[in-house]
Amino acid sequence: MKQKEIITSFSKLSKEEKLQIISNYFTNSGEFLTELKGYHHPDPKKQKLFDEFSENTLTNYFIPYGIAPNFIIDGKVYHIPMVIEESSVVAAASNSAKFWTEKGGFHTEIISTEKIGQVHFIWHGNKEKLKTLMPDLKENLLFRTKHITSNMEQRGGGIIDIELVDMSDKMDDYYQLKASFNTVDSMGANFINSCLEEFATGLKEFLKTSPYFTEDEKRVEIIMSILSNYTPNCLIKVWVECELDELDNIDDELTGEEFAWKFEKAVRIAQIDVHRATTHNKGIFNGIDAVALATGNDFRAIEASGHTFASKDGRYRSLTDIEIKNNRFKYTLTVPLALGTVGGLTSLHPLVKKSLELLDNPDAKDLMRFAAATGLANNFGALKSLVTKGIQKGHMKMHLLNILNKFGADASEKQKAKKWFEDKKVTVKAVYEFLEKLRSHASGHSEVYS
Ligand code: MEV
Repeated sequence: MKQKEIITSFSKLSKEEKLQIISNYFTNSGEFLTELKGYHHPDPKKQKLFDEFSENTLTNYFIPYGIAPNFIIDGKVYHIPMVIEESSVVAAASNSAKFWTEKGGFHTEIISTEKIGQVHFIWHGNKEKLKTLMPDLKENLLFRTKHITSNMEQRGGGIIDIELVDMSDKMDDYYQLKASFNTVDSMGANFINSCLEEFATGLKEFLKTSPYFTEDEKRVEIIMSILSNYTPNCLIKVWVECELDELDNIDDELTGEEFAWKFEKAVRIAQIDVHRATTHNKGIFNGIDAVALATGNDFRAIEASGHTFASKDGRYRSLTDIEIKNNRFKYTLTVPLALGTVGGLTSLHPLVKKSLELLDNPDAKDLMRFAAATGLANNFGALKSLVTKGIQKGHMKMHLLNILNKFGADASEKQKAKKWFEDKKVTVKAVYEFLEKLRSHASGHSEVYS
């Protein structure tokens, strides 16, 4: 790899020029170009579409697009599209879906669908006066954003409220206009940010033109106007439940009741220990993120919100809760999910369109249900393994193909390896040794490995 230097105006170069420049850093630039171009879409029109999703695009980065079939969510069957690179996630979601299918499936309740945006500003003035004039300011701001909100209002959404938040006890002269929005089926980032920037201009004009403010009070410093990705009021609850004896067959050594109480302890640990809570919640987002990606949603925003919500009581904890009562096991996930089914990538990315079609073209609320159910499925699957046989057995089984690929195994070697490792522990070393023996003593060991 050659020494890098600053590249000026990289974004202005053509794609071919960018590829050439970057390839020159590689000792074998031809091989680099062939590799990257190998991932171009054969249809130039589609490739252009992918290129234009982002900036400075060189090629496409493949991640598996899979299906976790047979989810029953609120009584209806769904096959859930998931985009994820981790080998065991789709399998875990599918297994949990199957497990709960026989016990009534996943139940959901949308608690709220509100989003938040803020104009942060610094103002040296009489705050009581501003508080008194807030109803006028609000009316003014709602009026001046009509050109942005009218379409959204026709779809049943719009601005819900705008309030003045006094933050001057935290930072001198710091205030916010904090607005709540209903963006219906869109994630709504552009809508919210456009409204907020208009609010900022409106605030400046209101202060300048109102006769109630002194010369000094007519000046305001707008620091920034931006939506908040923390959406505690865009919230869904999803749960599974069954009789304790329906858990009897999970493990050879545990009755259903014993399993339930062991599971309960695992959940409580994730409620009191931050290290475990982080991994526990990560397992939930394995499912949620995969659905978000398959449906063209912003998984970073969703994760950020989820982790903040997990800390809402002042300490980071599990997003799930458990109840074992009257012989019943009930396991619940409550998570904020600001998802959209219109706008953004939803009408552009060909696979996103197919995902939404497969999900019967859901509205945002239904997509919240699907993503939350998948998150709970993945978490339940992880805990079920953790408190019984452990995670590695299943994990490494799913990882076997990756290890075989790493060692360049061909189809027949893969087939033999799968059979051989059916009842054995998969480790990188064990797979390596298996292939070594298979390759060096093919005939001598064929009996053992076939
Ligand atoms: C791995 O991607 C996710 C788990 O670590 C989640 C968990 O520990 O609950 C298995």
